[in-house]
Amino acid sequence: MTAEKAGFDHFMLKEIHEQPKAYRDTMLGRISEDGRSVELPELKMTAEQLKGINRVHIVACGTALHAGLVGKNVIESLVRVPVETDVASEYRYRSPIITPDTLVIVVSQSGETADTLAALREAQRCGARVLAITNVVGSSVAREADDVIITLAGPEIAVASTKAYSSQLIAFFLFGLYWAQTVGTQDDSAAAQVLAAMQALPEQVEKILAQAETIKEVAESISHHSSLFFIGRGVDYAVAMEGSLKLKEISYIHSEAYAAGELKHGTLALIEEGTPVIALLTQEDLYEKMLSNIKETKARGAHVLGIVNEGHEQETAKSVDRLFAIPRTLPLLTPALSVVPLQLLSYYASLALGHDVDKPRNLAKSVTVE
Ligand code: AGP
Repeated sequence: MTAEKAGFDHFMLKEIHEQPKAYRDTMLGRISEDGRSVELPELKMTAEQLKGINRVHIVACGTALHAGLVGKNVIESLVRVPVETDVASEYRYRSPIITPDTLVIVVSQSGETADTLAALREAQRCGARVLAITNVVGSSVAREADDVIITLAGPEIAVASTKAYSSQLIAFFLFGLYWAQTVGTQDDSAAAQVLAAMQALPEQVEKILAQAETIKEVAESISHHSSLFFIGRGVDYAVAMEGSLKLKEISYIHSEAYAAGELKHGTLALIEEGTPVIALLTQEDLYEKMLSNIKETKARGAHVLGIVNEGHEQETAKSVDRLFAIPRTLPLLTPALSVVPLQLLSYYASLALGHDVDKPRNLAKSVTVE
């Protein structure tokens, strides 16, 4: 068992550290030699079919759904086609409006989640084309979907998903760009810029991992609290949701993710002296708005950890109690970096509390019952 963990204390920590490799492997062979376009030869859908799609449903559970929320941002930004995201266990009970020009994207690490599989079947029954993003070749989802993009994260053992989630983000970046180039909403030079930034991500993750000790200290201090908040705007809100789920799942500390601007509509009432708030500020166009939301929490006594882009440390330090800086990338790609400190935060909080990090209570790695 120790050997399988490659010297790490837990599978989760090993898998967090495998993310640079998972990113590289998921991109491998899918970027043209000149770095100006995406190649996805595994897709059976034709360019004409892709051009005919004018709505997308992304359906998944848990962490995979959170990757889908980032996917929505990617597709809407790059392709300008409207995307809805759905909890798989709700999808087939709400009579979703599925037309022949709807693409349904199911996301599943295991490819065996019962609700996701049922949603896939319902979408096909209604005439939609289904694209699966999954980590397991030959899984039920991979076998039944019309098109498949395999994430090459490698086997994920820890119940808490880390490298599978972040590889799903890479798959969305690739697919979004491929689609955008097919329909012409992104030209080759714009794509080249995104692809270059994507190829820098593995090294940037390594840089974050080298600063794990900073996160460990914060995790130890939050482990004494019974409730905390993750806040963000735009795509940072999607990452906040993933950070909150991860923390709940393995540390059993109650937390909520909130769109930062929504706090004052109720949740602010829960902020009191010392309440930890993890604030994501990676979206430059929303930075000032985030600072004012942070002030609202600080005025009620919150203790704030800010996750910022490098270069913003000095300015942000005036408004937060602690800081963690992530390397600069394009706003679209920040989730692939900002999620890493949040994964480490939940790992070290769980560790500080003496929980079984890899096998949290009440949870299974793959949920094959509805
Ligand atoms: C992630 O940390 C969770 N264990 C859980 O939310 C998981 O992502 C969900 O059950 C979906 O699993 P899947 O990706 O295998 O479909």
